[in-house]
Amino acid sequence: MENILITGSKGQLGTDCLAVFKDTSGLIGVDLPEVDLSDRDQCLDILDQIRPKLIVNCAAYTAVDACETDDSCWKANAALPGYLAEWTEANQSFLVHVSTDYVFSGDKPLYKPTVGNDILNPISEYGKSKLAGEQAIAERTQRFAILRTAWLYGANGNNFLKTMLRLTLQNPEKEFKVVNDQYGSPTHSHTLARQLKALVEHRATGIFHATSEGYCTWYELACTFLEKLGIEHHFVPCSTSEFPTPTKRPENSILENARLKDMGINLFSTWEDELSAYVERHGKKLIEEIRAL
Ligand SMILES: NC(=O)c1ccc[n+]([C@@H]2O[C@H](COP(=O)([O-])OP(=O)(O)OC[C@H]3O[C@@H](n4cnc5c(N)ncnc54)[C@H](OP(=O)(O)O)[C@@H]3O)[C@@H](O)[C@H]2O)c1
Repeated sequence: MENILITGSKGQLGTDCLAVFKDTSGLIGVDLPEVDLSDRDQCLDILDQIRPKLIVNCAAYTAVDACETDDSCWKANAALPGYLAEWTEANQSFLVHVSTDYVFSGDKPLYKPTVGNDILNPISEYGKSKLAGEQAIAERTQRFAILRTAWLYGANGNNFLKTMLRLTLQNPEKEFKVVNDQYGSPTHSHTLARQLKALVEHRATGIFHATSEGYCTWYELACTFLEKLGIEHHFVPCSTSEFPTPTKRPENSILENARLKDMGINLFSTWEDELSAYVERHGKKLIEEIRAL
């Protein structure tokens, strides 16, 4: 494989994709502010210049609460994937796109995982815009693979784990309420990048669910993370209603990697093991970065 374009290359998943595909000749990353891929002319122009054989789309508007009031999320999450798909079809390229558990309502009985043919029924603007992105791709080309993931964390950018660590290090004695009635599968962005590469190598097409195995609540995730780091914490479990946010979030975000398993290429282990690997690899640096703030 050569000539690969990674979009959103400065983001959490994008930086891991650059690392995972680093030995590919003609590997290029693009991101804001240099290139705005939600502008159709800019998007098609840059694709004409680079002529990628593979496009990995990690670009998205991921500030879930801001999506409720900022219509521009539709440009990045719905229109942009459509432009990439349009170019992919016209140039016989291949598009790998990343989507989300938020395309489902999350009201499946606990703790049943959501599978690929469950009803799509997003309950937030973010989820609706991401579903429109999936549909924009499927309407324009069959030359695609879509990976729906959830609760992503990585070494770069912001995420829930870093927020929990920062709050604790900056306020060691303080109690923090953390939601304990939403369930999902925390997923390491580096493993997702490797999974994405494996899908490309197997020339897989269609929609895949791609998260760590097993599930937990945000409270359990925060506690486990700090415990693996060996840091004392004072998290207090609370309900969603005690911690209101502008966006209604799915209660059951557990996805099943059924198609990856059927193909024998599911690279994910349990969320606890994935988290241990993350702590081992990045824990010391994460603590140093926060202490230096
Ligand atoms: N984070 C999660 O928990 C989660 C969960 C499920 C699914 N996902 C999906 O996983 C994918 C990767 O997420 P992530 O956490 O890596 O996101 P991220 O860290 O927010 O990275 C997204 C990148 O895309 C860039 N971007 C946004 N609009 C763009 C545009 N118009 N043109 C070019 N670049 C643009 C962003 O730039 P700016 O930062 O300057 O806006 C950012 O660098 C996304 O598709 C997301 O929807 C994420």
